[in-house]
Amino acid sequence: MLEVKDLRIKFISRPDKYAVDGVSFEINDGEILGLVGESGSGKSVTAMTISGLLQKSLIEFEGNVLVGGKEMLATDREDIHEMQGTDIAVVFQEPMTALDPVMKVGPQVEEAIRIHYPEISAEERKKMALDAMKQAELYDVENVYEKYPHTLSGGMLQRICIAAAIISKPKLLIADEPTTALDVTTQSHIIALLKKINKEQGTTILFISHNLAVVHALCDKVIVMQRGKIVENGSADEVFNNPKNDYTKNLLASIPSRDKRY
Ligand SMILES: Nc1ncnc2c1ncn2[C@@H]1O[C@H](COP(=O)(O)OP(=O)(O)OP(=O)(O)O)[C@@H](O)[C@H]1O
Ligand SMILES: [Mg+2]
Repeated sequence: MLEVKDLRIKFISRPDKYAVDGVSFEINDGEILGLVGESGSGKSVTAMTISGLLQKSLIEFEGNVLVGGKEMLATDREDIHEMQGTDIAVVFQEPMTALDPVMKVGPQVEEAIRIHYPEISAEERKKMALDAMKQAELYDVENVYEKYPHTLSGGMLQRICIAAAIISKPKLLIADEPTTALDVTTQSHIIALLKKINKEQGTTILFISHNLAVVHALCDKVIVMQRGKIVENGSADEVFNNPKNDYTKNLLASIPSRDKRY
């Protein structure tokens, strides 16, 4: 599904250092891969490169990013635009900033369909949006459809963003710290939702977090990044129960013991 080979990314504004420094990993169809690591370790830059959201004029890059066999680094903007929302969808940390504050949430859920399938009628599109919202476990969806973002809670907004991401049934869902801005209870509901989407629709997920306990609860495999490099790579159980790298051990030691049972 996704193959990243020896990816190296440098920002032209910071030529002295690689933000991502020789990263290789793959995700098979239907798997959930967790990407963890300290702030600034290169998680988001890796994710943005995969999704094609990183502006190429700002960076120098080497390596390969293959999504379903297609090279993302060589693909031109138009093709990437075509793939976004159909092959790949992204959910971000701050649902409030991901949404347009002056637009009702329902039509925002429909965006990928409006852009990529203009032949679908407005009526059918709304039906698809209501379905996606139900799949994202929103209730009273006809009513929620008409709401503006500021009237909804953070958890509901993140469900809206997830509905917008899954409406076009992407093969790969990239979730960059999707629960970090939420309280612990809501966080576990969103994790359960992502797991359900993975199970029911077979969506492959790249899940980014600095919370190793959350990653353990959700992911099949885990990659730990530090300063642009992968320092640990294995099954979630392996990495969680028997970490090899000192940095991972420290990351685990910093989890309060109550959360370790997660
Ligand atoms: N637009 C940019 N211009 C210059 N440097 C950048 C830019 N975006 C990110 N970087 C640098 O790239 C490195 C990796 O950043 P990245 O955002 O991927 O970290 P992260 O692992 O996602 O961190 P966090 O957990 O805080 O989200 C950092 O050193 C960061 O300062
Ligand atoms: Mg980040």
